[in-house]
Amino acid sequence: VKGGFPTFMEKEIHDQPKAVADTLLGRTDGHGNLVLDELRIDEAILRSVDKIIVIACGTAAYAGHVAKYAIEHWCRIPVEVELAHEFRYRDPVVNEKTLVVAISQSGETMDTIMAIRHAREQGAKVLAVVNTHGSTIARESDAVLYTHAGPEVAVASTKAFLAQITACYLLGLYLSQLRGNKYVDEVAGYLEELGKLPAKIQQVIDGEENVKEVARSMKDATSVLFLGRHVGYPVALEGALKLKELAYIHAEGFAAGELKHGPIALIDEGQPVFVIVPTPRRPTLHAKVVSNIQEVRARGARTLVIAEEGDEAVTEFADVVFRVPQTPTLMMPLVTVVPLQIFALALASAKGLDVDQPRNLAKSVTVE
Ligand code: F6R
Repeated sequence: VKGGFPTFMEKEIHDQPKAVADTLLGRTDGHGNLVLDELRIDEAILRSVDKIIVIACGTAAYAGHVAKYAIEHWCRIPVEVELAHEFRYRDPVVNEKTLVVAISQSGETMDTIMAIRHAREQGAKVLAVVNTHGSTIARESDAVLYTHAGPEVAVASTKAFLAQITACYLLGLYLSQLRGNKYVDEVAGYLEELGKLPAKIQQVIDGEENVKEVARSMKDATSVLFLGRHVGYPVALEGALKLKELAYIHAEGFAAGELKHGPIALIDEGQPVFVIVPTPRRPTLHAKVVSNIQEVRARGARTLVIAEEGDEAVTEFADVVFRVPQTPTLMMPLVTVVPLQIFALALASAKGLDVDQPRNLAKSVTVE
């Protein structure tokens, strides 16, 4: 069942190229158009939506956070991302023109289910991005866009996360295609780029030994920080979550721009800091993150940098560089998160921990 791997988590990390490919499968017409008839939601409703609220918990919420950047860019619709349990207990502004996108691997997360009910009571349409067929969330939503990651057994989410992000890209591109705006011409190009992602993810996985070696050498670390900007920010949050839940190490993700507003006080000699660097083909964004690496390095941090192949600007300030293939900015999370998953897995394994069943956690959280 573990496909020859020692743990489900390792197998599931290796399943990721297929999870993304399967989530893309059959959803285009081969001429650069998306076909999502399966949504069975009135197109007029999707055209009239004036706000999207993504609700989810944990890793699924980070997928939603990535989705915000993509959907706002492609569709020019405001997107809010909110933890389902927070959404439920305030008084959110929701009406018939709100599309609520609920993201869940299990489809059984009680916090998310309660938020869906709350949204529907107020007239919002709910579109679920779910991995589990026939689950409660799939049944209670107005429309479902399934991720095709296959069953995820390890408690810590990996392949479901990549499939969720992929499905959200499809949703964003579909809404752009449907509603038409100045970005509609980009849809075909982005679909083509998405099609290349499974091979790129595989390439990152093929380099796993390098990441594992670094992780093993850090098994006595007591705190690791993660910095990212733009879509690298939710990747930083996810990298920190993986390390907390698998290796029981204090880990925190920050928006890189937030450093000087407080967190930089944490940096002292030898503090490990991961930095997720955007593509140099976005020079302004890239330069900002490179200067963030310099800032922490100058204060003694040990910098572990995730950067694109060919990005030489980072080497001077990086103690370790993990390379990812060139990828359009918005799609970078699909490759940049992979070394972080492998890092958490390898560090936890080096500590002798059970990576499939971390302490105190359940695969699906069916209580509020
Ligand atoms: C983290 C993790 C959790 C889940 C969260 C939502 O690795 O697995 O944070 O992402 O509990 O679960 P689902 O997606 O089943 O609603």
